[in-house]
Amino acid sequence: MPLYKEVIINDTTTLYLWKITEDLEWFIDVVDLNISSKKRIDSMKSESHQKGFLAVRMLLQHIGYSDFDLYYDAHGKPHLKDEKCISISHSHEFSAIAVSTHSIGIDLELVKEKTLKIASRFMDVSHLENLSEIEKIQKATVIWGIKESIFKIKSQEGISFPNHIFENKFNLDDKITEAQLRFNSEIENYNIVFNFVEDYIYVCAYIY
Ligand SMILES: CC(C)(COP(=O)(O)OP(=O)(O)OC[C@H]1O[C@@H](n2cnc3c(N)ncnc32)[C@H](O)[C@@H]1OP(=O)(O)O)[C@@H](O)C(=O)NCCC(=O)NCCS
Repeated sequence: MPLYKEVIINDTTTLYLWKITEDLEWFIDVVDLNISSKKRIDSMKSESHQKGFLAVRMLLQHIGYSDFDLYYDAHGKPHLKDEKCISISHSHEFSAIAVSTHSIGIDLELVKEKTLKIASRFMDVSHLENLSEIEKIQKATVIWGIKESIFKIKSQEGISFPNHIFENKFNLDDKITEAQLRFNSEIENYNIVFNFVEDYIYVCAYIY
């Protein structure tokens, strides 16, 4: 399937989603890769991972960029060669990128029971009180995504999900919330936008 969805996150940020229905050969025919990406693709063990990586390049091509406009820093954080910021996530059937004039972090997660099982390791479980089982799974997934998204903006060693990133109270219907990073004696506030796509949840974080 071509582009699945474009979501306007704020005045300066758009999220693009690709639903992966194509086979690997199709992607290899239509995607132009730089040398380091070719090496990465060759080193990937799973075809699903390869397709997720290539679908990101399809999204780049869709908005007028290519793999040649993208590079990674030493921590694995992606950057565009122009002045824009990018964040990338992939999960099974979907790949996502968000492009912004400001720092941006995104995460895409399959909604699954396991995230709830490990919730006490990364979040304040009192935020799951009075919810049905499925709502608990969904909310824990959003909160995991909040923490991954903020981590992707900061990309600093030593950031702990339970000890340094704190989500405000929110309802699943809100589709927005706020979160705070308290790390190295600094406090940063983030806006959060999240939503459901089929069996997945995407989360975007940006500084306000
Ligand atoms: C790096 C990390 C953010 C990737 O997230 P993920 O959910 O495993 O995978 P996603 O598909 O959502 O994201 C992968 C993309 O993140 C981007 N990424 C990787 N490292 C990054 C970094 N340091 N900063 C920002 N973005 C990064 C890359 O674009 C990557 O995809 P690509 O290499 O194919 O381009 C994650 O593995 C991580 O290290 N998280 C923090 C560790 C942690 O504290 N964990 C839990 C503690 S309780």
